[in-house]
Amino acid sequence: MIVANWKCNGSKKMIQDWLRQYMDTFISSTGTYVGIAPPYMYVEHFLNLINEYGLDIKLGVQDVDKSSGARTSAISIDMIQDMDCKFTILGHSEKRVIFNESNENISKKLDIAIDKVDAIYCIGESAEENNKNQTKDILENQLSIIKGKIIPSSFSIAYEPVWAIGTGNTPTPEDINDIHKFIKDVVQSSTENNIVPTVLYGGSVNEANAESFFKQNYIDGALIGGASLEGKSFANIVNIFNGKNL
Ligand code: 13P
Repeated sequence: MIVANWKCNGSKKMIQDWLRQYMDTFISSTGTYVGIAPPYMYVEHFLNLINEYGLDIKLGVQDVDKSSGARTSAISIDMIQDMDCKFTILGHSEKRVIFNESNENISKKLDIAIDKVDAIYCIGESAEENNKNQTKDILENQLSIIKGKIIPSSFSIAYEPVWAIGTGNTPTPEDINDIHKFIKDVVQSSTENNIVPTVLYGGSVNEANAESFFKQNYIDGALIGGASLEGKSFANIVNIFNGKNL
């Protein structure tokens, strides 16, 4: 599973250039879940072009609100489904830090979204927490919102250490693999239906380092920010995941 998170980037021109590069670079392969989450404004435009070009890329969003109605600026899960979006990212660290998103609020959003679209729940520790060796405690706390719940197999987790996002720094592939195993164990033991989730890694993934991550047993894919903004580099990462270009 390879997902692009465009954050607050994009324009109609950029989408056109991106798709041209993607189509020139992508080596066909079946089965991999490839998703892109542009800003809400561009979902329909992107989806129309993807359908026109016959590409196997799912459209998704970067967040969803917990209900509809008198909630100025919000986007509801029904709207997302209405616009043919297949997934939503939830709990991204930029939402947690810049927009003061709490575990409690994310939990409500997750409850609404989880049976309607594929939910990708982001978790990760800050640099300070990492330095104090608190990573597993922080992750366990963030994972507590799914404790005791029945979680569908479409649910996945993105492990995104905050200090690795947009910095060019990453944990070693082996360290990420250990953390992913830990995440899978925590989710399996704490959910009602003992689900073992897909776990993606996010944080400075690019064409040069992707292979080292994808070789690890417990790294099931990637959530990609900066390197997803160019169709060529994103397609190359998908190719690497698919065992092409290795
Ligand atoms: P970068 O790939 O730019 O580090 O961003 C990762 C991310 O935040 C994806 O959600």
